[in-house]
Amino acid sequence: MTAYERLLAKAFDPEEFRREGKKIVDLLADFLAASEPEGRSRVFAWEDPESMFASWAGRFAAKPSRPFADLLPEILDRSNNLLHPRYVGHQCTTALPLAALGGLAGQLLNNGTAIYEMGPVNAAMERHLIRWMAGLAGFGPGADGVFTSGGSGGNLTALLAARQAAAEGDIWRDGAAGAAPLAILASSQCHYSVRRSAAIMGLGEEAVVPVDVDEKFHMTASGFKTALAEAGKRGRRPFALVANACSTATGSYDDLEQAADWAAFAGLWLHVDGAHGAGALLSPKYRSLLRGLERADSFIWDAHKSLLMPALVTAVVFRDGGRSFEAFSQNASYLFEKTATEEWYNFAHRTLECTKTMMGMRLFISLAAYGTDFFAGYVTAAWDLAREFARRLRTAGDFETASEPESNIVCFRHLKKGEPDLDGLQRRIRRILLEQGRFYVVQTQLDGRTWLRCTLINPRTTAGDLDALMEEIRSAGRS
Ligand SMILES: Cc1ncc(COP(=O)(O)O)c(C=O)c1O
Repeated sequence: MTAYERLLAKAFDPEEFRREGKKIVDLLADFLAASEPEGRSRVFAWEDPESMFASWAGRFAAKPSRPFADLLPEILDRSNNLLHPRYVGHQCTTALPLAALGGLAGQLLNNGTAIYEMGPVNAAMERHLIRWMAGLAGFGPGADGVFTSGGSGGNLTALLAARQAAAEGDIWRDGAAGAAPLAILASSQCHYSVRRSAAIMGLGEEAVVPVDVDEKFHMTASGFKTALAEAGKRGRRPFALVANACSTATGSYDDLEQAADWAAFAGLWLHVDGAHGAGALLSPKYRSLLRGLERADSFIWDAHKSLLMPALVTAVVFRDGGRSFEAFSQNASYLFEKTATEEWYNFAHRTLECTKTMMGMRLFISLAAYGTDFFAGYVTAAWDLAREFARRLRTAGDFETASEPESNIVCFRHLKKGEPDLDGLQRRIRRILLEQGRFYVVQTQLDGRTWLRCTLINPRTTAGDLDALMEEIRSAGRS
């Protein structure tokens, strides 16, 4: 046996896999058990990028260096701990441990799902999930959609379909250069992926005309009218309106009924970016935040933001499912309805990706194991906790909030008596929090001012953790 043959046998030896797998799962279970303030105080391990990079140099070579189980403790120790209740930073969620196991199964199966034959089980599961989501949105039986790798690609997919629906010719075939200049009207609070989509589509970022928002960060009627006029001034014909449900910075939900009225008035495709906030559809208490979504042409929903899924799991849902064939239409397949309905299972016709991970499977098995009510309970509790946190901040006297939270995102500032530079203070506080690593929060700019920002996305975060965060901020502010 050559060295290669020996290693090959080892790599695919079921007993080796079982042994290593048990070690890995044990290490991960210990990590999960310790992921609480008493077990591990650090949620974030700040290290300078250059020294982090240097520390991993020379760690693999032509011959085996170290087994994974030996490397894993260091990987866990030096990574951000999203399982920890005091990780309240970005919108990337704590992964449901079961979904991570689903990921393991999916990685081993590695069914690519570009076409049906490549991932038949996942294809069927994804179709059921899309129907479930479309039903929650209030779409009719004609709805359809796809899963794609992330909200940015999801927004691009929907906007490509919107453009093709509005275009006079076949832009996919002929290119955008000869076409009349187009515009997208979008909330001034929209995620940057909307502008990026416009640029990728060859429209240029200038094609995105911002719609002004009020003090609650909702698009306004006057903002819409002004944006419509502005598109005209720029010599562009608007074809889509993008509303937030909810916005990235403050978690604010646009009034979707109003947005649907405006879109109908101006003949625009209404796309709702529900990457973060569509999860509220599950909550009897909060689903009214999405009233009007049933009139949208398309929306996206990131399960890695509001359904406890490991990244990335994004659904792009179209009210008229046939339109989902137009985003990447090489031969305008929507025109040939027979093909469109027959080929729902060959997803590569409709997604940016060719090969994809078995992303729907992770969500499907999680819904099967815990039930949809569990996820409804999670969303309600997270959205409730944000309101409670805002109440505590406001009544404390030494904090202010940017607006009343509508989802699980809270933007706030520490107010220190006599501090001449409040923006600088928030930045200093965040820097100290990062260095200490006991909490992870982020910061954002709103109306030219700096705010601290939390996303209460971890179901194990409690009001007590948030009280402790306020204390930590006060103490950072003093130092
Ligand atoms: C509202 C909204 N849309 C889209 C995105 C992009 O999603 P992803 O990071 O999955 O590409 C984000 C990410 O934060 C978001 O908040």
